[in-house]
Amino acid sequence: MSATRQASVRAFNGLVTQGWNRAAGLYNTSILQRLAYRPPQDEIIAQLAVSGAKRIADVGCGTGILASRIAADLTPEAIYGCDASAGMLKQARFRSDRVQWRNRQAEDLGFPDDAVDAVVSTHAFHFFDHQAALAEFHRILAPGGLLAIVLNNPTSRFARVLQPAPIQGLAYFPPPNEMRTLIEAAGFTVTEQRPVQRHPIPPALVPDVLTVARRD
Ligand SMILES: C[S@@+](CC[C@H](N)C(=O)[O-])C[C@H]1O[C@@H](n2cnc3c(N)ncnc32)[C@H](O)[C@@H]1O
Repeated sequence: MSATRQASVRAFNGLVTQGWNRAAGLYNTSILQRLAYRPPQDEIIAQLAVSGAKRIADVGCGTGILASRIAADLTPEAIYGCDASAGMLKQARFRSDRVQWRNRQAEDLGFPDDAVDAVVSTHAFHFFDHQAALAEFHRILAPGGLLAIVLNNPTSRFARVLQPAPIQGLAYFPPPNEMRTLIEAAGFTVTEQRPVQRHPIPPALVPDVLTVARRD
């Protein structure tokens, strides 16, 4: 993303956060969760299980569904749910007291260096300042740590339905090849990149993509 584009996205980040403060209730509806958000969460949990990560940060955790599932399913030593929106975190706090909820920006998470073994993020990276967030993920991850990000592929023919013009004005969705370049430039090696599986919906109809990388 160009410096100008980054600046305009950053300028709107306060608006985005306010919007999520208001949307927090609607966001938890079961139909939206089942169709849109659960499949990527399943993918992330499978990646974490294989990696054996013990200290995990879910960045842009929203109302905390993924972080709470990680706490329950994987019982890691530490699971952090980080989000810029106090409204989303208010909902999250009701969900689990095993997750350490943190009202922080992705670009300044406030952990010491090498503090976690995995950083995961679903459907939030498009709101972040990409380079600053990736530099922060690299800083807080231990060497060899796992990075797993899911976000919509803007080249999908369905992406425009899911990303109407107002959202596109507030966010930037790097296409998969750009994600790979951004992540590798930040000091990671991409190990896997593919559409999220949503059986029985065929992958061609699925607009979101999982990118997995290891911190060098
Ligand atoms: C679409 S929600 C996704 C929530 C959750 N990851 C999920 O999949 O259910 C996007 C979240 O990103 C958060 N967000 C936006 N910009 C952020 C930033 N710069 N740092 C941290 N969180 C941010 C919003 O507050 C919102 O909760």
